[in-house]
Amino acid sequence: MTQDEQKRAVAAAAIQHIPVGSIVGVGTGSTANYFIDELAKIKHKIEGAVASSDATAQRLKSHGIEVLDLNNVTDIPVYVDGADEITQHLHMIKGGGGALTREKIVAAVARRFICITDQTKLVDVLGNFPLPIEVIPMARSYVAREIVLLGGHPALRQGFTTDNGNVILDVHGMQIMNPVELETKLNQITGIVTNGLFARRGANLLLLGTNEGVKTVTL
Ligand code: 5RP
Repeated sequence: MTQDEQKRAVAAAAIQHIPVGSIVGVGTGSTANYFIDELAKIKHKIEGAVASSDATAQRLKSHGIEVLDLNNVTDIPVYVDGADEITQHLHMIKGGGGALTREKIVAAVARRFICITDQTKLVDVLGNFPLPIEVIPMARSYVAREIVLLGGHPALRQGFTTDNGNVILDVHGMQIMNPVELETKLNQITGIVTNGLFARRGANLLLLGTNEGVKTVTL
């Protein structure tokens, strides 16, 4: 199976995990886009969706799926999203598409996080993929200096503004042996809105696309 076929397969498999009548949290990216296409087929069986980005909201609406404001929602049984890297411990790096802040917010509200990825995303140690960090623009240089002190090499994502009007620093050169600890440390740096480590609240389930079909990974 090609990488794209694996993405389509895990997106289809995720539909089995959507409770009838529920509000679905929906991630951002190419794998999430395939999931939206699958969700459209069962749209009459769900109450609506909460989107993790403007792009996702647009795609959901284009399929006739109702997009709800998170502030009017108290219960999201399942959040479905891709990842840039994920470990066997279901810790992730996310934010390659720059939607990490809204993704983390919707994931925080959701009861379960189902991660859908092709097999290239499964790694032993996080950090080969540059860690995205959303930063308030005026704090960009300060935050970059703090990250250097932590051993990272930050690069400003050129020509990119997040849905929240902020910038992204992509941090290279980190071998993240303790993702929970690093996520917590980064949360303490003033000016950082969100870091792309999803470890304190990792996934509950990984649907992994492989050449042998979709594998289910749980803790
Ligand atoms: C967007 C994300 C995506 O989940 C991540 O970049 C994976 O994307 P894709 O499914 O296109 O490989 O975190 O902010």
